[in-house]
Amino acid sequence: MRGKFITIEGTEGVGKTTNIEFIKQWLTNQSIPFVNTREPGGTPLAEEIRQLLLANRDEAVCSTAELLMMFAGRAQHIEQLIEPQLASGHWVLCDRFTDATYAYQGAGRQMGNQLISTLETMVQGEMRPDLTLILDISVEQGLERAGKRSEPDRFELEQTDFFNRVRQAYLAMANNQPQRYKVIDASLPLAEVQQQISDVLEQFMQQQKKA
Ligand code: TMP
Repeated sequence: MRGKFITIEGTEGVGKTTNIEFIKQWLTNQSIPFVNTREPGGTPLAEEIRQLLLANRDEAVCSTAELLMMFAGRAQHIEQLIEPQLASGHWVLCDRFTDATYAYQGAGRQMGNQLISTLETMVQGEMRPDLTLILDISVEQGLERAGKRSEPDRFELEQTDFFNRVRQAYLAMANNQPQRYKVIDASLPLAEVQQQISDVLEQFMQQQKKA
């Protein structure tokens, strides 16, 4: 049976890394075979593209170039890793996917959705995640947490307005498609965040059993 494709999204500093570790443990406890990957990145070539995308540079990066690099890496990632893993029955747990492009390039960079939707169809066909967890906290709280980490990358240097547009775009996706997107209140203490995540995963598993 084909594996399930789960993606994790959110703005900066929402705690994706910690909570992905929790989901990995949850899948392991359920004896579900899975791979954990990320975007941009996930294969050697796509990781090189990630470095190009995140590096701080003197030259301004044109939004269209940024968008195309996101999808170039994604095409490689899908063909080399995501599709073969799903086809072999492994679940794929991916730290960000195309929803991040709608949120960051579409809303953050104000490129709109039309071009992204065209590229999505070209690169993915009908393929979409089965479940997307959106970790949500206020932009101020997220940036404060992210600021305590390493040197900011090219995206982390953006202003609050940019991240507010990103956050609102994610919340709008969840509002439009509540079946696939589950919003997790990531401002709560970690144990409560993880309780929400395991509730969502349990519910998803129940739906799979019924299907
Ligand atoms: P990360 O720090 O969560 O690994 O993601 C790297 C950055 O890339 C993050 O600031 C969001 C950004 N990004 C986009 O702008 N568009 C995309 O499609 C993806 C996957 C990530």
